[in-house]
Amino acid sequence: MIVEFDNVSKRFESDGSVSDESTSGFAVKDLTFHIGEHELIAVVGKTGCGKSTMFNLLIGLIEPTSGSVRVLGKNPFAQFNDLAGKISVVFQSDRLLPWRTTLENVTYGLELRKVPKEERLAAGREWLQRLGLEMHADKWPLLLSGGMRQRVSIARAFATNPEILLCDEPFSALDELTGANLRQEFHRLVKETHKTGVFITHSINEAIDIGDRILVLHSPGHVVAEFSVAQALKECSREQLKQKILDVMSDAAPDRQLAKIV
Ligand SMILES: Nc1ncnc2c1ncn2[C@@H]1O[C@H](COP(=O)(O)OP(=O)(O)OP(=O)(O)O)[C@@H](O)[C@H]1O
Ligand SMILES: [Mg+2]
Repeated sequence: MIVEFDNVSKRFESDGSVSDESTSGFAVKDLTFHIGEHELIAVVGKTGCGKSTMFNLLIGLIEPTSGSVRVLGKNPFAQFNDLAGKISVVFQSDRLLPWRTTLENVTYGLELRKVPKEERLAAGREWLQRLGLEMHADKWPLLLSGGMRQRVSIARAFATNPEILLCDEPFSALDELTGANLRQEFHRLVKETHKTGVFITHSINEAIDIGDRILVLHSPGHVVAEFSVAQALKECSREQLKQKILDVMSDAAPDRQLAKIV
């Protein structure tokens, strides 16, 4: 397994305002899921259900209050440095460094890892080319459109040749057409390079396009349903699958068991 969450809970002490003691302060509660090698998992859930908290636990930025998180067999919080370079992230905002050119942004991760200059420039150029950005290599990010900047951040994520790609709503700020194109490309690149991916999104359509499997989260972060997309699409139409996911996503029943495994 590449990613293992077992009964993971995260409680933020500062959030004492909720009166229900059983869930008070929990951003994630009893979260369990496993991701195998080369799987691309989409995670959907309503705003505030704990998706970003799950993401932060996965990259080791925060420590679980209880339960176990393992990534590539390691504890990402306690063994943060062991996972350096093995996980790449793409966020909703591109987070490019404005004082570095496009190429210098793409090679930044390799520079941090002290990869020799020639080698990192070659990797950077290759990834810019794969994303159709070679003619923008020497431009400042601020001169590029939002869609192009997000392309650069995808090139940057792949350039370090990580084992895992993590995305937290990377295309939600883009127009629909640009988002759809990038989504398709991202999917193709993950599959071509045999990466494992976790893709967080609000959009059910996006989850169906991207995911081999879709996890639906309810608040406080726990899995209420899991869909195997190829299998589900053999058994029902895309519209029906969308509706099924929407139904579990919007179901307010807090104690439902892992409801629909398709
Ligand atoms: N550092 C923090 N301190 C206190 N509470 C937090 C903190 N981070 C998140 N939370 C709370 O945990 C819950 C889950 O937040 P999280 O950001 O994980 O949700 P999300 O699913 O990513 O939402 P969105 O779809 O809006 O991005 C929310 O109630 C949020 O207020
Ligand atoms: Mg979030």
